Amino acid sequence: MRIHFQSAKRESRKNPGIRLGLIGLGTVGTGTLGVLREHEREIERRLGAPLEVRVVCSRRVHRKDLSWFGRPVERTRDWRRVVRNPEVDIVIELVGEARTAKAIAFETLAAGKHLVTANKQLVAEHGLELAESARARRVMLGIEACVAGGLPILHAIRQGLAGEHFSAVFGILNGTTNYILTEMEQRGATFAEALAGAQQKGYAEPDPAFDIQGYDARYKIAILAMICFGQAVRVEKIPVEGIQRIEQVDFAYARQLRRTIRLIAEARRDARGRLGIAVRPMMIPVSSALGRVHGSVNGILLVGSKGGVTSFTGRGAGAEPTGVAVVSDVVEIARRIVAGGKSATPLGYARWRRARLAPAGAGDVATYLRLVVRDQPGILGRVSAILGRHRINIDSVLQEPGMPPRRLPFVMTLEPTRASRVHQAVEEIARLPFLAAAPLIMPFAELP
Ligand SMILES: NC(=O)c1ccc[n+]([C@@H]2O[C@H](COP(=O)([O-])OP(=O)(O)OC[C@H]3O[C@@H](n4cnc5c(N)ncnc54)[C@H](OP(=O)(O)O)[C@@H]3O)[C@@H](O)[C@H]2O)c1
Repeated sequence: MRIHFQSAKRESRKNPGIRLGLIGLGTVGTGTLGVLREHEREIERRLGAPLEVRVVCSRRVHRKDLSWFGRPVERTRDWRRVVRNPEVDIVIELVGEARTAKAIAFETLAAGKHLVTANKQLVAEHGLELAESARARRVMLGIEACVAGGLPILHAIRQGLAGEHFSAVFGILNGTTNYILTEMEQRGATFAEALAGAQQKGYAEPDPAFDIQGYDARYKIAILAMICFGQAVRVEKIPVEGIQRIEQVDFAYARQLRRTIRLIAEARRDARGRLGIAVRPMMIPVSSALGRVHGSVNGILLVGSKGGVTSFTGRGAGAEPTGVAVVSDVVEIARRIVAGGKSATPLGYARWRRARLAPAGAGDVATYLRLVVRDQPGILGRVSAILGRHRINIDSVLQEPGMPPRRLPFVMTLEPTRASRVHQAVEEIARLPFLAAAPLIMPFAELP
């Protein structure tokens, strides 16, 4: 057998370039252009054809300095001119705003062009319709950048682990919240200080509510559940709880319990095939794989019936890591174009099930209960009596020394009990007259 070693130049003469239209020149759009420019030769060698950016679009496109890109490129403010441009093979949608992203995506597919998007909301809410539209037009859909930016998690599930049967996926899917929790854990920062630090470093948006309240992670776990289990979940049905109520004292208690606190997005199949899915802060072992994910990094654990636990960690956001994910999708689509291939199943399944959700609060779970009280005699007795009435056993009571008696935080850890029962008891406890703040509960998760 003879192998031909060719120069990239000679190779690309055989294959015409794959023509790209890019809509959105913000953080990810600029990062994507940078990756395309800097990795141009490497990509061409991998693909056997060049990738050519033909047109770029943003609202203020004429104010953008693109001289560094070093290639002539048409500019437009009107995304429809990209989608309808006969010289564009692949449209890259990076506008962010949900309604515009949706319009761009559906028009692109309707025009018979391949689509790459980084918009998690779009894919979480309309992924099945997009996949169907792509299939009907025999075009391809790239969504890798929607979940955990630079981690190739969707490719890993769809391709590398396509033979696996997953029972669960756990993820730290939001870098901003993980940065905040890590600062609280390692530097003793208050929530407000850690949030200000995240904003200074550009991790958190000026309005950080979307990240902190868990909504960003909720879109991502909805997509992971689709790709892992072939089950479509309505995003608004996924229970979500953010990290805004976590205080420094919770880390002090976590340390006593050899645990730490992370915002965990989880989806797991129960024995009846139902999906338990939620985003919430959890008390996890410090030594667990996700307990060791620090700063703005993302981490994901896949639990499979044959391969056991597979873990991924890496940069989950930012211009360049996300740009790499976008370009990787473009390269994959371009490879198939070069090879004359057809559309595959972009979400990894050809047949879909609407998810049957396990009722929230089903299953036994050990719980961390933090109460903040105005100190007086008899508090423990009254709280214990309520827990006892709900048949909940106390595992331990913890109190850090030197806390102010007018706002005294203490913690009870509760033995595994039905979560719905804990919620009922805590509602009753919340009405006790000596409480100085609403109780905080967090499940303990025994993650590997
Ligand atoms: N940032 C990250 O680290 C990250 C990570 C993973 C996924 N993502 C996803 O990637 C997407 C882009 O995020 P980003 O952070 O790059 O957003 P961004 O910085 O806000 O950039 C959005 C870009 O879209 C342009 N745009 C908005 N509406 C438009 C319209 N109607 N027509 C034409 N252009 C329009 C804006 O134009 P002007 O600049 O001209 O106003 C801007 O260039 C989002 O879906 C996001 O969720 C982001």
